[in-house]
Amino acid sequence: MTAFPDSFSSLRREMDQALSDVLPLPAGPESRVVEAARYSLLGGGKRLRPSLLLATGDMFGLPHTETLPFACALEMIHTYSLIHDDLPCMDDDDLRRGRPTCHRQYDEATAVLAGDLLLNAAFEILLAHCAQPDGTVGWQARVHAARRMARKAGIEGMIGGQAVDMQYEQTPADETSLRRMHRMKTGALLEAAMLVPADLAAPDPVLVASLETYADQVGLAFQIGDDLLDATATADQLGKTPGKDARDHKSTYVSLLGLHEAEKRLREACERSAAALGTLAGAGLDPAFLEGLTVFLTERES
Ligand code: IPE
Ligand code: IPE
Ligand code: MG
Ligand code: MG
Ligand code: MG
Repeated sequence: MTAFPDSFSSLRREMDQALSDVLPLPAGPESRVVEAARYSLLGGGKRLRPSLLLATGDMFGLPHTETLPFACALEMIHTYSLIHDDLPCMDDDDLRRGRPTCHRQYDEATAVLAGDLLLNAAFEILLAHCAQPDGTVGWQARVHAARRMARKAGIEGMIGGQAVDMQYEQTPADETSLRRMHRMKTGALLEAAMLVPADLAAPDPVLVASLETYADQVGLAFQIGDDLLDATATADQLGKTPGKDARDHKSTYVSLLGLHEAEKRLREACERSAAALGTLAGAGLDPAFLEGLTVFLTERES
């Protein structure tokens, strides 16, 4: 069994390599938008979502030829969500992944288009993969998985959560609403990382149900952690501007409950997620990466 940090580093390297090939620069003046998309996509980032997708696929015995297109698409969708999240009309941030945000490095119009491009290119990669005649997974399962990704990135997931996030700047949310928002804006794409491989491998529904419970708690824990780090970490650690949530009157676990209770909610979500993994291990699968992730979520500094 490889330790979580080693597996994560090696998956991250594989992702960095795969992503560097997905957006070639065209000739002509439109190349500036591709340059901006590559700037944001290739300039750092933990690569948590795609690493998690590959690792969950490994757990189900899926070859990377089946999971890598989904992992690339997921990181591209995530990166587009960050470019748009940083725009002046949303969170108005200057720093991302340790560098100036896309609209600061280029300009606002280019950043909007770079985000749009990443979203389109993600689904182009997925459709091309779905149309591949060979492989170990049938086209129906691939389409099912791609559709899940679209849903989790859309109004029921990331986009819906981002819309709600903007509204709660005006009207502070209660804990139930906040939990729902976190699950949508951040949890949904993390859930896709784990449930897309399940769509492709089609394991026993009992295992899918356990994975859903795990993913749901991990998604929540990740955004609570993000809220905590915004309030406690430095710009160097984060690679983004700290203290922004308070400045912008965001509804977060920290603004609603304070640091101590927010940390408690994070630990509780991690404990619940870890408890859901017993079924997977009991069925002979190796959830080592998923177990390691719950520890990472309570300890991460960026
Ligand atoms: C930041 O995500 C945005 C959230 C959804 C909380 P990450 O913390 O995974 O950012 P990168 O990909 O490592 O830059
Ligand atoms: C953003 O949440 C989640 C996204 C879908 C991009 P935040 O606005 O808290 O993310 P950061 O802190 O800017 O990375
Ligand atoms: Mg935001
Ligand atoms: Mg933000
Ligand atoms: Mg944040």
